[in-house]
Amino acid sequence: WLAWVIIAPAAYLIGSIPVGLIVCKMFGGVDPREHGSGSMGATNVLRTAGKKAAALVFALDLGKGALVIALSLILAPESFLLHGIAGTLVILGHTWPVFAGFKGGKGISPGWAALVVLSPTAGVVTMIGLAIALLTRYVSLGSIIGASLGILALIVIAIVDVPITDSFVLREPIEYLAFAIPTVVVILFSHRENIARLRKGTENRLDINAAEGP
Ligand code: G3P
Repeated sequence: WLAWVIIAPAAYLIGSIPVGLIVCKMFGGVDPREHGSGSMGATNVLRTAGKKAAALVFALDLGKGALVIALSLILAPESFLLHGIAGTLVILGHTWPVFAGFKGGKGISPGWAALVVLSPTAGVVTMIGLAIALLTRYVSLGSIIGASLGILALIVIAIVDVPITDSFVLREPIEYLAFAIPTVVVILFSHRENIARLRKGTENRLDINAAEGP
């Protein structure tokens, strides 16, 4: 239980570190929540503070997700439920950060890293989303599809064993559903405005050279 008392709050608090806000202040003094999509994530930081700031935010937000799962794996290696809950809490912190008025990012960067560390197999599936984002330049579309497919893969291999060869079976603990199900709900909810814009054909395409940054 000691691991729960340490890791669960730490996961939410680490997720809550408002990396996008801090980096934007360092690079140009802007608050990304008042520009572009209003998100604190790397995509919107690219619009508001430029490429270097966005790359830094992306790396640090990935780091939040990876760190939390790594901590849970190290401190409580057998507690699969805690690994799953820790992944959910880091995304909740990132999306609704206690340190920044509960207005943060959309869960993709820390969620991606958390998924890759929890289940590298499911992490590979998310690469489909990366390809979609690069091909269409709709980061939100790639994020939504990649996250949904990666999490679907995790759900499948948490529920059933998928034999690849006689001695190699894809499987994950059923407890990882405590990460998979809330995460897909949060990501779809946080992208609700992107989904509406995609349907209307008015979603912003990523344009690295149009970044307003310094
Ligand atoms: O990861 C966030 C991305 O999917 C969408 O970002 O700023 O275009 O809403 P944004």
